[in-house]
Amino acid sequence: MNQAKEQWASRAGFIFAAVGSAIGLGNIWRYPYVAYENGGGAFLIPYFFALLTAGIPILLLEYSLGHRFKGSAPLTYRRLSKKFEWLGWWQALLAFAISTYYMIILGWALSYTYFSFGTQWGKDTEKFFLNNYLGITDSFWNIGGIQWKVLIPVFLLWAFIYFVMRQQAHKGIERLTKILMPILIVMMIIITIRGVSLSGASAGLNVLLTPDFGALSDFKVWIAAYSQIFFSLSIGYATMLTYSSYLSKDTDLSNSGLIAALGNSGFEFMAALGVFGALGYLATQQGIGVDEVATGGVGLAFIVFPKIINQFPGLNDLFGVLFFGSLVFAGLTSIVSLLEPGVAAIRDKFNISRNAAVNTIVGGSAFVSILYATKGGLNYLDVIDHFLNNYGLLIGGFFMTVATAWFAKEANNMRAHINNVSDVHIGSWWIICVKYLTPALLLVMAGLNIIDEFKAPYGGFPYSGLISMGWGALFATLIGGFLLQAARWKEEDSISGKIKEGA
Ligand code: PFF
Repeated sequence: MNQAKEQWASRAGFIFAAVGSAIGLGNIWRYPYVAYENGGGAFLIPYFFALLTAGIPILLLEYSLGHRFKGSAPLTYRRLSKKFEWLGWWQALLAFAISTYYMIILGWALSYTYFSFGTQWGKDTEKFFLNNYLGITDSFWNIGGIQWKVLIPVFLLWAFIYFVMRQQAHKGIERLTKILMPILIVMMIIITIRGVSLSGASAGLNVLLTPDFGALSDFKVWIAAYSQIFFSLSIGYATMLTYSSYLSKDTDLSNSGLIAALGNSGFEFMAALGVFGALGYLATQQGIGVDEVATGGVGLAFIVFPKIINQFPGLNDLFGVLFFGSLVFAGLTSIVSLLEPGVAAIRDKFNISRNAAVNTIVGGSAFVSILYATKGGLNYLDVIDHFLNNYGLLIGGFFMTVATAWFAKEANNMRAHINNVSDVHIGSWWIICVKYLTPALLLVMAGLNIIDEFKAPYGGFPYSGLISMGWGALFATLIGGFLLQAARWKEEDSISGKIKEGA
């Protein structure tokens, strides 16, 4: 059965799935530390700039491509322009690669939900996380064997996700998001209200909200903003394209896009208020500055937050469960969207059943995830995430706009398509973005980033690791894209028939 037969039960179902994809670890775990590392309050300016110049234009482009050409990413790009099938594969492979470690962080969060009962992490939360829980090894190439405390929760989650994904999207993904998203939003509202009402919260909020305009001249802050927008909005991974291919013919696109974009940023900002309020509280309790309690990277959620929960004036366990549980819920509705592009893609190309595709994609991702559940896993996760998220998305986004506007010369038709089905009409600003502004900005960002990459090894990791795993993962997904493009379509005739039909 072909994936084109998939359809959401309702427009609300699609919006739930799209917002569920966008709201994830990126909003609760990633945004606070990225904003913190990039100038706190000053980060808001590049963030909104990136949202307007790349986030919303590319989101609408993905929606319209999926909706108009009605196929998985490779099929959609092929229908757009035969030369670009690889781009669909590349994006689906990027999503697949990211799913392999995204699930690991969900596994940590599930473990920490359990550890919240009786605050089992004890006083030294850093030692607990790195040594007791992850069992981290002392050098990059020391893989150190499997860490069962990590692998077991991860495989429990894989089993659940496998069950969800085997059902058609409107039964599995749509129901999952309709149940989890409302609960998540209530949990996050409780956390935020508590976070900002703790004594000393204002010290943390000041760090988040006080603009430091000096940071704006640092191009790294701008790159961080673009990467955050891509990751957080789930654009450039073929997710939104795949989801919108399951929409019925006349569904409003621009409205749905704006709801997803604003809902995602609103949630992200709300979560950051709660997190920074709590950081201010911890700093005040310890009589030190917020900069001394906050750490960048993964540590913020798994080292500093347990510390904050230890210090809570009451209901410590409950707030632990709420915080880590919300990470799990937010992540589950996102991981399905990292897996669905691959499922849809191989169903289309190789004409296989949903079950067979899910066995391959979910099984494959679960298998690869074992690498990060080793004692050296955190290092591999860090390196691979850096390369895929900083380059894959920006470069993929660049090619999306170039393929549409310059090769296929379809920018005007895409805009007309959106306006045909939508109440809110989009103006010529969108054409300017898709044709000139967005690709130019993405190219500059990616270029500057590459130059910077060679100045110092990322994270102090050995070059052997950065090249084999970081660049290696990036090129493997790209080469995989070209190889899959070269493979034969199972139903060549009906595919070319559909190309005309789609256009
Ligand atoms: N948007 C998700 C988050 O913020 O955690 C991550 C993500 C999900 C990215 C799905 C891309 C994607 F396709």
